[in-house]
Amino acid sequence: MRIVLLPGDGIGAEVVAAAARVLRELPLELELEERLFGGAAIRESGNPLPPETLAACRGADAVLLGAVGLPELDRDEVRPEHGLIRLRGELDVYANLRPARGHGVDLLVVRELVGGLYYGERGTRADGTVFDTMEYRPAQVERIARRAFEIARGRRGQVTSVDKANILATSRLWRGVVERVAPGYPDVELAHMLVDNCGLQLVLAPGQFDVLLTENTFGDILSDVAAGLTGGLGLAGSASLGDGRPGIFEPVHGSAPDIAGRGIANPAAMLRSAALMLRHGLDEPAEAERLEAAVDAALLSAPTPDLGGNATTVEYVDAVVSALGA
Ligand code: IPM
Ligand code: MG
Repeated sequence: MRIVLLPGDGIGAEVVAAAARVLRELPLELELEERLFGGAAIRESGNPLPPETLAACRGADAVLLGAVGLPELDRDEVRPEHGLIRLRGELDVYANLRPARGHGVDLLVVRELVGGLYYGERGTRADGTVFDTMEYRPAQVERIARRAFEIARGRRGQVTSVDKANILATSRLWRGVVERVAPGYPDVELAHMLVDNCGLQLVLAPGQFDVLLTENTFGDILSDVAAGLTGGLGLAGSASLGDGRPGIFEPVHGSAPDIAGRGIANPAAMLRSAALMLRHGLDEPAEAERLEAAVDAALLSAPTPDLGGNATTVEYVDAVVSALGA
């Protein structure tokens, strides 16, 4: 199985190196190849997603991605984030799964990943007005809704579809399509919730949620809230899936420039993303479970500073490797 590693920016390099080390410990035939992406690729060629990198990703079974975003490339023109948005679109990984577990929470954000504001027309008018546009086609909503219902079947059987249907036309389309798809999944309970209320409910009573189905921007925001409820971005992994291979597996984010290069980044989010890759991207559920258990064990024995501990990235990974062998 061929896996393309895209370290990207900031702590991306450190956490991807951690994942590569752990993956090599598993009894699987994995071919890992690293490619330029994000800020490093901009510096080399002016393009955050060079054609060779995209071609390697297309030919791979899975893509494991660290992070993008650099303060020194925080500008209007070419930026590292453009590489990520383009890669997601090119591979058509429309279903972004972001689990959050712990502290009485066990939910999964199913975020539509290749539509909405991130991909709509944008521009500047002569009078200085700047605009981004949100568009959704019915088929785009239908495929993510079906994915959410299917996943809910394997969980507690509840989908909460999030929208802003009291204001947005795209949300009314969203709600209509979700309603139309729902009868095909009579074993799943469907509720609709306005996004502002969902933010409130996540903070007040997150235990009520099983699967949260969202469009792209709402899911971006709510998945950070969900991560915040369960230990922060250092723990939050994600899977971005299309209808076939390759999927992209990346932390919910942060290139964390403030701690980059210091060897103290928490690689748990990256390792959990690697476990999601084993489960959803490479059909190796047993190894996924083993890795998840080792990640959890190491969080107790060797927590990094973001969790109040003092383990370095390498010490944490040592603990994961030893838990895997135990
Ligand atoms: C995420 C991140 C990205 C996004 C950024 C880095 C472009 O915040 O994966 O949630 O907005 O999708
Ligand atoms: Mg985000």
